[in-house]
Amino acid sequence: MALILKSLILLLLVAFVCAKTVKQSKNDKETLEKYIEDKKKEINPRWRLHYHVAGPVGWINDPNGFSYYKGEYHLFYQFYPYAAKWGPMHWGHVTSKDLVNWKQLPTALLPDEEQCFSGSAVVDGDTHVLIYTAHENLASGLSNESQYLAFSDDGVNYDKFKGNPVIPQAPNGSPDFRDPKAWKHGDHWYVIIGSKTTDERGRVLLYRSEDLIEWEFLTILGESKGDLGYMWECPDFFELDGKFVLLMSPQGMKPEGDRYKNLHQTGYIIGSFNYDTLEFTPDVGFQEMDYGHDFYAAQTMEHNGKRYVVGWFAMWESPFLEDVDGWAGAMTIIRELSIVNNRIIMKPLDDMVSLRESLVASGDFRTNVPVVFGKTAEIVIDGDLNKNMDFLLEGTEGGEKGWIKWDSESRKVGIEIDGDVRQVEWYPIGSTTLRIFLDASSVELFCGEGEVVFSSRLYPEGGWKVTNKNVQDVKIEAYSLKRSVPE
Ligand code: FRU
Repeated sequence: MALILKSLILLLLVAFVCAKTVKQSKNDKETLEKYIEDKKKEINPRWRLHYHVAGPVGWINDPNGFSYYKGEYHLFYQFYPYAAKWGPMHWGHVTSKDLVNWKQLPTALLPDEEQCFSGSAVVDGDTHVLIYTAHENLASGLSNESQYLAFSDDGVNYDKFKGNPVIPQAPNGSPDFRDPKAWKHGDHWYVIIGSKTTDERGRVLLYRSEDLIEWEFLTILGESKGDLGYMWECPDFFELDGKFVLLMSPQGMKPEGDRYKNLHQTGYIIGSFNYDTLEFTPDVGFQEMDYGHDFYAAQTMEHNGKRYVVGWFAMWESPFLEDVDGWAGAMTIIRELSIVNNRIIMKPLDDMVSLRESLVASGDFRTNVPVVFGKTAEIVIDGDLNKNMDFLLEGTEGGEKGWIKWDSESRKVGIEIDGDVRQVEWYPIGSTTLRIFLDASSVELFCGEGEVVFSSRLYPEGGWKVTNKNVQDVKIEAYSLKRSVPE
C-alpha cells in the first residue's frame, strides 16, 4: 500500500514538473556529450588537476547551483565546451557524497535564445530548482538580463520553466542584473541579484516569493557608496555564527597598497539583518575573502549546520596557461566557514585528509634540501614565527616558480609568482602552521586556522620540488594526494 502511494506521489510529481517545463532537446544533449567524450581524448594531461573540479573539456568559470539534493552535493559551473575560452554559457555539473570525491554528470543547461549565466539551486519538496540569469544579446547590439528557472526530479536531467523569465528586469532597468542566489526562510523564498545603480555603483537587490515564480522586489540589500566598484557580481547572503554575511564579487575596485591587486575582488561585509525591517546593518567594512591571485565569484551552501564555500580558481583576463592543452579554469577545494573576530575563517574540509596517499617527508625541513613530489602534495609546515621563512615551489623539470614567504618583522605572509606578490598581515588566532595544497597547476595556502588563505594557479613542469630557502630549520609533514576528480 505504502509503495503504491509512494509511486503515485512520484508520478504526480513528474507530471507536474513536465507540465510546467520545456524539455531541453535530447538530441542536442546527446550530441554535446558525445562531442565532450571525443574531445577529452585530445587533452594534454600535464596540468590537469587531480583533486580540484574542472570541466571535462573547454572553458569553465563561476561555481553555480552549489546545493544538496537527494543525498548528494551538487556543483554546477559556467561552461563553454567548444573552446578553452569563454563563449555561450552552459551549466556543467558534478556531484559528490563528501565534497572531496567528485563525479562528472551530463551538462545540465544548454543555451537556447538565452545564455545560461550564473545562478543558484534550491530544493523545493522533491524538486531541484535552478535559478539562473538568462543573458540575451539583442539585435540592437545591447544585451538584456532576466532570471530563469529550470527543474529536475532526478538531479541529472533539467528542464527549463515554460513561464520564464520569472524576474524580467532590474527595477532601474539596468542591463546588468545577474547571478541570483536563492534560499528559504520561514514560509518564503528569497533571492538576491547583483546589479548596479544608474551612476555605476555596485548593488545587491533583494526579492521575495511564495512559490519561486511570482517575485516581489523588496529592497536594496547593499550598495557601493562609490568605493566598492561599479558592478557587484555573484552575491550571496547567509547567516553564520550569529551574524549575517553579504558576500559578493565587485568589479572595478582600485588597488590600495597590498589590497585589491587582482582585476576584480571577492569579499564580504559582516553585519546584522532583520527579516521584518529588511535592513542589513554592517558591523565592519568590506574584507577580501582570499588573498591569492586566483579566486573569484565564490558561492556558499549550507548542509547539516555547516556552511561551505567554493570559488572559481581563476581571475578574468589572467593568462590560463592550460588553454593550449584544451581546457581552462577550475574550482578551488571546498572550504568550511566560520566567523572569528568579525572575519571569515576558511578551513579545508576535515575529509581532505582522506586524500593522503603516502607520507613523503616528516621531521626537519633543512635549508636547501628539497623535497620532491609527484603532481600533488599536502605540506604542513611548523616554524618559529619570530624568524623569517621562505619556501620555493618549482617543477622538477622547470616551468613556473612560486614563493611562499613569511616576514617576521612586518608580520606579512605572502605568495609570489613571477615577481607578482600577494601578501597580508597575519596574526594567528591559534595554530601557527602553514598548510599548503599543491595540485598539478595550483597552490592553496591556509595559514593557522584558516584566518588567512591564498589561492593561486602555478604551472610547474614535471612534479613538484619544494625547498626551504631560509636558514631557519622548520618542521615538515608532507603527503602525496590521491585523485578525487575525473581525469
Ligand atoms: C562572473 C560572471 C557573472 C556572469 C558569468 C558569466 O564571473 O561575469 O556575473 O553570470 O560570469 O559567465
